[in-house]
Amino acid sequence: MPQTEPAHKPLRIAAVADLHVKENGSQSYRELFSEISSKADVLVMAGDLTDLGKPKEAELLAADLRSCTIPVVGVLGNHDYECGSIEEVKTILKDAGVHLLEGQAVEIGGVGFAGVKGFAGGFGRHMLGSFGEPAIKAMVAESVEESMRLENALRQVRSHRAMVVLHYAPIPETVAGEPEAIYPFLGSSRLAETIDRFPVSAVVHGHAHRGTYEGRTPGGAPVYNVAAHIEKPTGRPYALLEL
Ligand SMILES: [Fe+2]
Ligand SMILES: [Fe+2]
Repeated sequence: MPQTEPAHKPLRIAAVADLHVKENGSQSYRELFSEISSKADVLVMAGDLTDLGKPKEAELLAADLRSCTIPVVGVLGNHDYECGSIEEVKTILKDAGVHLLEGQAVEIGGVGFAGVKGFAGGFGRHMLGSFGEPAIKAMVAESVEESMRLENALRQVRSHRAMVVLHYAPIPETVAGEPEAIYPFLGSSRLAETIDRFPVSAVVHGHAHRGTYEGRTPGGAPVYNVAAHIEKPTGRPYALLEL
């Protein structure tokens, strides 16, 4: 008898980033979350969950998430840090049931999700180097630190199927569309270097609102920019991926 791969039921993953929930409640995501719950098995939110990192904004998102009936995995974005209430924001989101990943992994339906926010620093041979003033060195150190957190998260994955969840981009291809002058602030190749040392099935990120939907790491892992503003094959603010 020919040997066959053990069959697994594909996991349907809806992924969206940069919802930027505002304090004035100008936009409700209740209907979007209930639509997603009917189409996917897991919702992934890739950072900038709130607009200014205010606890009130996180509470509004938590209230909208009550219409989401599937598990939710998330990472934070730079906007979630803006007003210095990150611990409160994290508590509100965790209490709402979000698996908030900051260098950890969680397994849902046979897929391991490894997540970190990531950081800036640039791409390829134009990456910012650790040289000169302490402020520059601190910036590079933060970028390296986030890549090491991602490595730790990926080491925790036991499943053969792994999705990496980031806010910052790991490759320049999916930020294309943004002004080239700001590429170094949109992500870092250090993230892709880490990803390519592990068997990763797919990567999602946000942050580059005017970027490009699809790309690949140098090692071939598919990368999707799932910022809500980006046109996707679904025709909706979220991407649907099957792993
Ligand atoms: Fe954003
Ligand atoms: Fe962002």
